[in-house]
Amino acid sequence: MCGIVGYIGTKNCTPLIVNALKRLEYRGYDSAGVAVISHNQLQVQKKAGKVAELVAIVDSHPIVGTVGIGHTRWATHGAPTDINAHPHMDQQRRFALIHNGIVENYMTIKHRLEREGRTFTSQTDSEVLVQLISLLYDKVHDFETAVRLGLKEVEGAYGIAIICADEPDKLIAARKGSPLVIGIGEDEFIVASDASAIVSHTRQVVYLEDGEIAVLTRTGFTTKTIDDVPVTKEVEEITFDIEQLEKGGFPHFMLKEIHQQPETIRDAMRGRLLPAEGTARLGGLDSVKDRLRQAKRIVFTACGTSWHAALVGEYMLEHYAHVPVEVEYASEFRYRNPVLSEEDVVFVLSQSGETADTLAALREAKRQGALGLGIVNVVGSSIARETDAGVYIHAGAEIGVASTKAFTGQLTMLALITLMIARMKNLSVIEGQRIVEGLQLLPELSKRILSNTQNVEKIAEQFKDARNFLYLGRGYNFPVALEGALKLKEISYIHAEGYPAAEMKHGPIALIDENMPVVVVVPQDDIREKVMSNIEEVRARGGRIIAVATEGDTDIHRLAEHVITIPQTIPMLTPILSVIPLHLLAYYIAVARGCNVDQPRNLAKSVTVE
Ligand code: G6P
Repeated sequence: MCGIVGYIGTKNCTPLIVNALKRLEYRGYDSAGVAVISHNQLQVQKKAGKVAELVAIVDSHPIVGTVGIGHTRWATHGAPTDINAHPHMDQQRRFALIHNGIVENYMTIKHRLEREGRTFTSQTDSEVLVQLISLLYDKVHDFETAVRLGLKEVEGAYGIAIICADEPDKLIAARKGSPLVIGIGEDEFIVASDASAIVSHTRQVVYLEDGEIAVLTRTGFTTKTIDDVPVTKEVEEITFDIEQLEKGGFPHFMLKEIHQQPETIRDAMRGRLLPAEGTARLGGLDSVKDRLRQAKRIVFTACGTSWHAALVGEYMLEHYAHVPVEVEYASEFRYRNPVLSEEDVVFVLSQSGETADTLAALREAKRQGALGLGIVNVVGSSIARETDAGVYIHAGAEIGVASTKAFTGQLTMLALITLMIARMKNLSVIEGQRIVEGLQLLPELSKRILSNTQNVEKIAEQFKDARNFLYLGRGYNFPVALEGALKLKEISYIHAEGYPAAEMKHGPIALIDENMPVVVVVPQDDIREKVMSNIEEVRARGGRIIAVATEGDTDIHRLAEHVITIPQTIPMLTPILSVIPLHLLAYYIAVARGCNVDQPRNLAKSVTVE
């Protein structure tokens, strides 16, 4: 979703900002722009399309200056056009602003400004904000005060960076609901919506909290609330490397991230397994262990792929820890009146830690007195900081918009949490040890799947022109079917549906004919025979079966046109392996169709608007 970059220092900032924008491309966007103060005047260049198109303009008409801002926009209010791209300027061209989030009351403010004689060039809520700040500046004649007063009027969410030609040695940034981080260099500061735009310049960062504003000059910065109360900030260190943001020899980030899984699954478990005791130790949850053991109910809430991981968690926890579990879309949870008590534990799952709906769901859960815990990838993200306690999955930066390694990291973490809670309750040490052994084998087993992907590539080539796909699974692998279908939709734009295999006969079976590819996840587990019967039902209607089955399963070849094998593991852990071929299948189909795998159309990596 929209990306923010701001620079104040001693270097020519245009190339620097454009390079930082490239680092934010993975977030998903549809237009880009820069504004730089050059000879005390604002120069703005912006363009619908990719950063490469902006680069072409900036190269042919260079702008030189040492204070500037840049933005990648993901359209919400107004189509993705040159005019609606950020930065936006006020009528007098004194201010340039970039904005992430949504000004919900923008129409009210706009009408008021129109009555004061302001005219607007774009359809965006962001232009309304810069015009409001400009109007206030006419009254207070002070950049910082005008920004603060303007922001106080905003209902909704924002992460902004703004510069002013009248006060050319300042850059102001503020946040409410949309993340912002300040990178501290030598005589220079970089503001960005995520640390990946900063890490090549500095590792020293300060995260702004909601309702805070930072005023940056070349020699330092001050932070305060928008109500003018000074705040002291702690400097933190970015822990990931620049190499983690590079493709490392793979054609796409998505493929690189799929292949990183033997390591990322291991990293999620590192130092957390206690083989002798048959349990897991999760430092981040130590302080809430008793509440977890006593929880009357566990609620998972998340969006997208993280929601699928939560569904697997439901199966795991109910089976082993005998605790009732509910899983809900964060966007629904936040606007229902969820019945929660202090004996409930709410886990939010989020790769980015910034998804607006998930963050709001967490706040609602905490407001109602429930314990709010997090399973998060991005260290220091908003959700990570607002939870009562939580665990990181340590998957490293995930750049491909479609989530892959974060999903298996979340599943691994859910298995550890299940193990920990179950062992505090009724699970025997022998059973616990069996799960620990299963977990320890996963990195090797996933490597085995990844060592031979040609079969998947061939299947992809054969089915790349299909218009619909059906994905089926049961038990632990029902959410995997949902995830496989989602991934195919996201990156190849082929319509796909995931279904519980048995539920198929209550509707989707009507779609099955000799043109319908049906991907069935059918590993060796307690429910395999039932799934085999569902496969028979598909075959009887001419459907073309692509099966994900356990190595050594010879019977499956009788029914399936194609078989992709995964190694044997305990049923609870099969999703961590069975999802890998499905992610690969989606990847190779998307590549064969010529789609932009890492930045699929209309999608965003981190959805910071509701
Ligand atoms: C977006 C991404 C998905 C992701 C979802 C939830 O829609 O495109 O890949 O699963 O957000 O994101 P989160 O960062 O909260 O896991």
